[in-house]
Amino acid sequence: MASVPEIFHSMEYGPAPEPAGPALQWLERHGRQFGLFIGGEWTEPGKDSFETLNPATAKPLATLTQASAAEVDRAVKAARNAQQDWWRLGGHGRARHLYGIARQIQKHSRLFAVLESLDNGKPIRESRDIDIPLVARHFYHHAGWAQLMEQELPERVPVGVVGQIIPWNFPLLMLAWKIAPALAMGNTVVLKPAEFTSLTALRFAELCREIGLPDGVVNIITGDGRTGEALVVHPDIDKIAFTGSTDVGRIIRTATAGSGKKVSLELGGKSPFIVFSDSDLDSVVEGVVDAIWFNQGQVCCAGSRILVQEGTQERLVSKLKSRMETLRVGEPLDKSVDMGAIIAPVQLKRIQELVRRGEDEGAVMWQPSWSCPQDGWFFPPTLFTEVSPSATIAQVEIFGPVVVLMTFRTPAEAVELANNTRYGLAASVWTENINLALDVAPQLKAGTVWINCTNVFDAASGFGGYRESGFGREGGREGLREYVVWSSGTSERGNGGNRGPGAKTRVKARSGTAKRAASKAWASGSAVPPFPRTDLPPIDRTPKLYIGGKQVRPDSGYALPVLDASGRLIGEVGQGNRKDIRNAVEAAHKATGWSQISAHARAQVLYYLAENLAARAEEFGGRLRVFLTDPAAAEREVALTIDRIYTYAAWADKYEGAVHHTAFRNVTLAMPEPIGVVGVVCPEDQPLLGFVSTVLPLVATGNTVVAVPSTRAPLSATDLYQVLETSDVPAGAVNIVTGVGDELARVLAAHDDVDGMWYFGSAEISAEVERLSAGNMKRTWVSLGKPRDWEDPRSGAGEEFLEQATQVKNIWIPYGE
Ligand code: NAI
Repeated sequence: MASVPEIFHSMEYGPAPEPAGPALQWLERHGRQFGLFIGGEWTEPGKDSFETLNPATAKPLATLTQASAAEVDRAVKAARNAQQDWWRLGGHGRARHLYGIARQIQKHSRLFAVLESLDNGKPIRESRDIDIPLVARHFYHHAGWAQLMEQELPERVPVGVVGQIIPWNFPLLMLAWKIAPALAMGNTVVLKPAEFTSLTALRFAELCREIGLPDGVVNIITGDGRTGEALVVHPDIDKIAFTGSTDVGRIIRTATAGSGKKVSLELGGKSPFIVFSDSDLDSVVEGVVDAIWFNQGQVCCAGSRILVQEGTQERLVSKLKSRMETLRVGEPLDKSVDMGAIIAPVQLKRIQELVRRGEDEGAVMWQPSWSCPQDGWFFPPTLFTEVSPSATIAQVEIFGPVVVLMTFRTPAEAVELANNTRYGLAASVWTENINLALDVAPQLKAGTVWINCTNVFDAASGFGGYRESGFGREGGREGLREYVVWSSGTSERGNGGNRGPGAKTRVKARSGTAKRAASKAWASGSAVPPFPRTDLPPIDRTPKLYIGGKQVRPDSGYALPVLDASGRLIGEVGQGNRKDIRNAVEAAHKATGWSQISAHARAQVLYYLAENLAARAEEFGGRLRVFLTDPAAAEREVALTIDRIYTYAAWADKYEGAVHHTAFRNVTLAMPEPIGVVGVVCPEDQPLLGFVSTVLPLVATGNTVVAVPSTRAPLSATDLYQVLETSDVPAGAVNIVTGVGDELARVLAAHDDVDGMWYFGSAEISAEVERLSAGNMKRTWVSLGKPRDWEDPRSGAGEEFLEQATQVKNIWIPYGE
């Protein structure tokens, strides 16, 4: 045995095991067998069952039930039965329950931490000091949101019954991220933990009983992907919240398309870790440890791509290697272990194969000299250098302790390399120059940007992806949006909400039943729109398309007839096709300047647009009159359109972000950012007001748009070409492609360079748009065939539109020496 002076000299330290006793006793009390938690009761352990194993020993911990479709149905029914009363309980009542959960988690924190480490293989230091405290924090924070809901979100109501599917990497934390906001906003849930790691969720079910949570508010069902699938397709689920792989996220997006279910997806990542030459390299090295060796690298936002400025590479690599040499991999319950076990053999194999692939493709692999334990599933920290940006290991999410290192020369090159991925979950930027950091952060296509820090999370900050990392946010005020619907909204189910208190349905009768009948007749393919003719003379013009600030002929060489109210031909418009859409998308991408000019400048352009339209109000009114029976309606539509443009000019510099009070010495800036290039298929009714109401919220927030105006009455949109030209709207910011809306909707939804898609039309094409959008996971907003009152300022304009037009980026900036 070493003497004290020897130990003092070598600084070697021995094992510091955390006792597993209480967690094992808890398992024994349940006979190491679990049923499902439905309606506040445990079911008998099922015959169809599976084992959950300890990844550090490969030995079984307990036997769990594989929930069948019938059991999923029972759980959904229990949640449905409980939802109304839960919502009626009011914000304060719900807050008390969430507070009770937070307190109970804290009281049993060590049991939860040990159980988590046993089941997942993560070091006890992480489960004890990061996962479980954050779980409690999430419930406390959302107890506050429940309390404040009526004041702070007055027009919102719960979505209803939420199906939640979570992964194995942060089992209890992901449960908290899902359940806390759902319950706070008055929803009830059916949650399925990952099949590898269900134990803490089952202990949580028990906790719900302990604190007297009403039966059915939380239901926990175990099982693999089959159970998840049954939950996703269940007809009485109002929303699916999913965290996991991009592949399964895509399956869920496709399976729910057109169902009206609200969906949020938190998927994979390949997050850049950008190191500028002036950064503090010792902090950077500790940052890398947190970025990629936290939780064995099984972290969706792991900083798995180090991008280092040329000249600094050698020093960084040498410091990293010596730090890696000191990392300890081993028994997760040892308090002095840095890295635990990999979740399962299938994941270990995936990591090993990708590492082999990296070597085959010519990158240089380095691992520390020591070896990993042989029992259980372990993998050492691994560094790849001389990696080409297109190499498999630089592009594919490895989800293990493997980091690749590449170099860049200039900040612009760093941004380009960082964004060279289909993902967009997170990024970190390391520099002592705050000006540089704050210049780079907004250019990174990622939902979270950490400056001189990494992998920090808090309930007050939103977390979620850009691009194929999914959509929706968890945490922060922005995360609440996923669990509510606007009481005035008409495009989502809001089952729970619409039946609950405070659910004021503001879907007014449209301004005339004749109008609805007319649009129905048109939609059903009637050749002659059933409007009586007016006395206006026909206008014979053939407008072109408006792409990149120019009027261009349609590629197809075909024109579509435009008929007036009596069926008389009054003009023709170009029939846009796939190629025109492609050109318009390209033009919209080139118009990046629009998102970069100041919000004030955007507001100025929009006011100018209103001014120029007002100058031609009479002409636009005349254009609309040919489609309408009531001349006053045309006048009103033009007046409302000018008013609406004013609304978005006003919002342009007022739709602000927030500074979140995260629980660190940090300012966390929540910035609403434009989605990018968004396709809009505008509503058929009220062709001018509908066009402006859908295109302008996007433009006001800095998106560029490819808009398809009303198929039936496109002329008021084509008349806008000149107004756009004279109002300093930059070329490419708004592109207009006339044609058959439903056909072009499909083209836009399937286009991989379109970042978002709004569709206001039939339920059938809404479903198609959602399905086709799964290709690049574009954000969609569809009307599912439901009408919307465009005249009402609450349902036809406002925050709901602005929220849909933006995504929130959280930028974390620590302060202090
Ligand atoms: P996964 O996406 O298959 O599993 C996540 C959850 O979805 C689990 O609860 C699973 O039972 C459920 N699920 C699986 N198939 C489903 C379906 N068809 N319908 C509904 N639910 C379904 O992830 P998996 O297989 O555990 O890991 C594979 C890869 O996914 C990892 O190597 C990693 O790259 C990535 N991953 C990403 C995570 C993240 O946080 N972004 C978390 C876990 C895995």
